[in-house]
Amino acid sequence: MLAAKVVVTMFEKGFKVDKLVKALRAIAEPTRLRILVLLSHGELTVRELTQVLQQSQPRVSRHIGLLVRAGLVDRIPEGSWVFSRLVRDGALANLLQDILAAVPATDVIVVEDMKCLEQIKEERAQAAANYFQKAASDWDQIRSLHLCEQEVEACLINAIGPGRFSNMLDIGTGSGRMLELLSKRIDHGLGIDQSVAMLGFARSKLQNIENCFVQQADLFDLPLSDNTQDLITIHQVLHYLSDPPAALAEAARVLRPGGTMAVVDFAPHKWEFLRENHAHRRLGFSNSEMRKWLEAAGLRYADVHSLPPLDSLVDEPSLTVRIWIAHGRTS
Ligand SMILES: C[S@@+](CC[C@H](N)C(=O)[O-])C[C@H]1O[C@@H](n2cnc3c(N)ncnc32)[C@H](O)[C@@H]1O
Repeated sequence: MLAAKVVVTMFEKGFKVDKLVKALRAIAEPTRLRILVLLSHGELTVRELTQVLQQSQPRVSRHIGLLVRAGLVDRIPEGSWVFSRLVRDGALANLLQDILAAVPATDVIVVEDMKCLEQIKEERAQAAANYFQKAASDWDQIRSLHLCEQEVEACLINAIGPGRFSNMLDIGTGSGRMLELLSKRIDHGLGIDQSVAMLGFARSKLQNIENCFVQQADLFDLPLSDNTQDLITIHQVLHYLSDPPAALAEAARVLRPGGTMAVVDFAPHKWEFLRENHAHRRLGFSNSEMRKWLEAAGLRYADVHSLPPLDSLVDEPSLTVRIWIAHGRTS
């Protein structure tokens, strides 16, 4: 019923019949429908889809190619990986949402696929957790290897603007540096992280800072009520995650209307070794991608600040850091 409504709206907006038929044909095939259901839980690489579907890589790539040509999926090459992602805007995105909502979550194949996907995500999260377990004691040094930290921190302080913040939340706090940096500007700070080892270092760093605390929690399921935080920082965290937009949406949920969110991460880069040696998943983010995600999370996008690599690091694998600022909507 809903899908029929979407189709009527599509035609009212001048959508062409042949495009609709192509999309419906692409959807109406068991493996491709499974791929679409899987992608509705976040972007995936061909390798990950191959693991769930238990089909050869060329076969899975061919199905993805068809979905891309039908306008249902975007392919985002990034270094040696290619991510597939459901289209998020436009008439086909709405149609797709309605069709996917009609797929029974209790279907045996869907249940099996979801189990397999969860396992892959768990293995991925475990690999990152193992990395942080090992890197915890050296994290402050690792973080500053490819960029000028002082410059980034000065820019961040400037970007969040003047004044005090009542409640601050630092998501993926690691060794707690953001809380330490901003502790004098806030009444109360909470850092959350899933790594016990990282939290151990954060606790020792913050032991003399009485207004800041850390707690173990999953950033996809924050232990906080809606609209409670005045300042949220997400510093060098998103590039490790399987689903950055979901993390931003969860952060937006707890941001107060008018509150400030600062996301610090890398601009797109080519350094594959960060995947191999440092558990990165994404090789940076473009402005347009980040802006889209922040707005989709219901925030008002405000600004982006870019910090190019230091001259002294020109021959090194140095990175451009970006600071994106968004605010909780007031109406
Ligand atoms: C690169 S560190 C950044 C730490 C800190 N923000 C900084 O810039 O120094 C990323 C942190 O995100 C945490 N993290 C990754 N996935 C998470 C999740 N699902 N929930 C909570 N923390 C997570 C890791 O444990 C790690 O401490």
